[in-house]
Amino acid sequence: MHDSIDPQDVARARALLAGARSIVALTGAGVSAESGIPTFRDALTGVWSRFRPEDLATPQAFVRDPARVWAWYAERRAKVASVAPNAAHLALARLEEASVAQGKEFMLVTQNVDGLHHAAGSRRIHELHGNIRRVKCFDHRHPAAVWGEAGEMPPRCGACGALLRPDVVWFGEMLPEGTLEHALEASAACDVFLSVGTSGLVEPAASLAFAALAAGAAVIEVNPGRTPLTSRATIALRGSAAKLLPLLS
Ligand code: OAD
Repeated sequence: MHDSIDPQDVARARALLAGARSIVALTGAGVSAESGIPTFRDALTGVWSRFRPEDLATPQAFVRDPARVWAWYAERRAKVASVAPNAAHLALARLEEASVAQGKEFMLVTQNVDGLHHAAGSRRIHELHGNIRRVKCFDHRHPAAVWGEAGEMPPRCGACGALLRPDVVWFGEMLPEGTLEHALEASAACDVFLSVGTSGLVEPAASLAFAALAAGAAVIEVNPGRTPLTSRATIALRGSAAKLLPLLS
């Protein structure tokens, strides 16, 4: 990983975004890292370096030990509620506002479940992996607007009595209906695709940048490390999202 920012690359990326008619931005955990939310796969600090996804992030894990899974997500929910959007989230919201004001198409596709893009003022958001601030029941996906945090955990659905779970996508589950289709369509139709803070290791999100490339779009990557996209990107900006994105919008 390194953080040497080439001003010429930054200027080229700015020019691409300024000249675009249609922009898709894809974000991953790296965009929230500087708000204090750990990423998943960074070697020392990543969530999956300390926990096993198969114990916490699958429907089978929930069936085996719903109390443990609920408690783990309750802790993460409290964490995301206690932090603020950083300069990267704010820059993406500004980019959207400016792009839309100029009559451009803009879509923000995020793998993050923390809701920080909403908090920063982004509007055209497609959440591929759900949102940890919401809960739904395990059996019928009834949404729950309120739930107790005392007594038997997880709480039960007011409509059907099933156990409540976080409204996030677990490994092995389908993405929310329509979101992937819209994101793929927009990625294949955009002229600039901006990939920020994602390792590009989780499908189907990882395919979006390649769909954009295949359709002839320019791809700008913002990441302090290398990913499977880096060598294919039109411009790879190596550095942190909170430092780089404000230079682009
Ligand atoms: P990962 O943890 O796999 O990757 C985070 C990426 O962010 C890495 O490429 C880091 O180099 C980069 N990064 C770290 N700090 C950064 C910073 N300050 N600025 C910019 N980039 C930074 O996270 P995701 O790619 O989001 O799935 O992971 C994808 C999915 O895997 C997640 O949505 C989650 C997880 O299991 C579900 O919850 C379903």
